[in-house]
Amino acid sequence: MGLVIGPRLSAPGGVAITGIDLAEPLPPEPKRQILEAFRDHHVVVFPGQALTREQQYDFARNFGEIQPSSQPGSKRHDVAHVISNLDKDGNPVDRSSSPVGNYRWHTDKSWHAVPPLLTMLHAVELPPTGGDTEFANTVMGYAALPEETQRRIAGWRVVFRWGASGGTAVMTTRQDPPVDHPLVRTHPDTGRKALYLGNHVSHIRGMPEAEGAALLAELLEHATQRRFVYAHRWRRGDLVMWDNRCLLHRAVANYDMGKYRRVMHRSVVRGTVPF
Ligand code: SIN
Repeated sequence: MGLVIGPRLSAPGGVAITGIDLAEPLPPEPKRQILEAFRDHHVVVFPGQALTREQQYDFARNFGEIQPSSQPGSKRHDVAHVISNLDKDGNPVDRSSSPVGNYRWHTDKSWHAVPPLLTMLHAVELPPTGGDTEFANTVMGYAALPEETQRRIAGWRVVFRWGASGGTAVMTTRQDPPVDHPLVRTHPDTGRKALYLGNHVSHIRGMPEAEGAALLAELLEHATQRRFVYAHRWRRGDLVMWDNRCLLHRAVANYDMGKYRRVMHRSVVRGTVPF
C-alpha cells in the first residue's frame, strides 16, 4: 500500500500521513507528496513511527541541510538531538517559566541570519495526558489584520536576539549577534505573506525600543488567537514536521512536569534568508 494522506486536521493546518515507514530511504514520489502536503497543510503528522536518532537524521536530510543543536552538551551533530524536561540525572523538572524555554510562542532559531525551513519532533516518551504542542498559522494572522495595519507594518524589520523577550533581556554568556528580519515575510513556496515574530524578538528597527516591543506584543496576541491555532495532542511514535516560515509554535505545560517524563527527538532543517 502506498502513502495515504488524510483530511486536514484543523482550519489553521495539520494533516496525517500513513502508509510509510520513515526509517526506510525515501523514494522521490513519496518525497514529492510529503512536500506537497507540507506546503498545503504546514504541519505534517506521521503516526506510529519507530526511528532511531540516526534514522531520523537521515530522514530530515531529505529536506535540506541540518542545523545543529545550539544546546550546550550536544556532542553529536549527525543524529537527531534530544529535548526533554529531564535534568542531568534524568529526573523530570518543571522549567516552563523559563523566559527562553519552548513554552512561549516562537519560531525556531529566529535569531539566526538564515533561520530554519522546518523542524521535526519524534515523540519518544510522553506524560499520560497533555504535553501538547500548539501551532499558530501566521499567514492567517497576517490576512486577518486590518488593511490599514497591513499597510503600516509593511517594510518593518524586527530585531531578533537570543534571550530577548519583547524588550526584556535574559542574562546570558551567549554571544549571538542580533539579526533583523522582515516582520511580514513572504513564504518562498506559496508567495503568501506571514507575520514573523515571537520569543527572542527585541524591537523594531528604527523605532524606540519600548514602542516597538509593545507593538510586537500586540501583534503576537493577535496572531495566536485560538482561531489560528492547531493543537497537536501527541501519541508515542508520532513524528511531526512543521513549517517555521508560516507558523509560530509552543510546547504546552499542561501536565505535571515535575513528575512525568517528556522526551522528544528533534531535527531542524535550514531554510533561506527571509524576504
Ligand atoms: C520546540 O519548540 O521546538 C519544541 C516544542 C515542543 O517540545 O513541543
